[in-house]
Amino acid sequence: MSAVLFCRGMAMLRIAKLKMQPLPKIILPLIASSLALLILGSAAQAQDPARHGRALLKEFCANCHAIGKTDSSRLREAPPLRTLGRSFDLDQFPRLLKRGISSSHPAMPEFKFSDDDAHAVSAYLRSIQQ
Ligand code: HEC
Repeated sequence: MSAVLFCRGMAMLRIAKLKMQPLPKIILPLIASSLALLILGSAAQAQDPARHGRALLKEFCANCHAIGKTDSSRLREAPPLRTLGRSFDLDQFPRLLKRGISSSHPAMPEFKFSDDDAHAVSAYLRSIQQ
């Protein structure tokens, strides 16, 4: 009797083991590929700060300023960002962005950028200056 119970117990263990096995086989590649995507994603961002910078400007500044090479500002008083190099030293611009940039114009809110974002924005600005 106890031998039968024992055997049944072993059989159940074996079934449990069989059921357990396919799981990691499915999940491991999923984990591996999402990790790879994460790493690739941040590498792409690190490789192309200007693209990241453009996205930031599009999100925070494009409502008023022209952020491209040929577009015009939606708010006429806001200078196109491609002309910033005329009145600002772009080498100093990341510092300005991190400290918080605001203008004398009441319409423009104050912005503060992280170190990475400030450098990304400056890299993009540099690429469009006229
Ligand atoms: C709500 C509208 C608005 C938004 C959003 C805005 N700006 Fe402005 N910005 C203006 C206006 C209007 C001026 C011109 C006012 C002035 O001369 O003081 C200006 C001026 C500036 C100036 C000074 C230009 C100069 O030559 O003196 C800089 C630099 C600037 N903006 C950068 C930015 C950046 C970077 C962003 C996004 C992070 C941004 N602005 C978002 C409206 C805006």
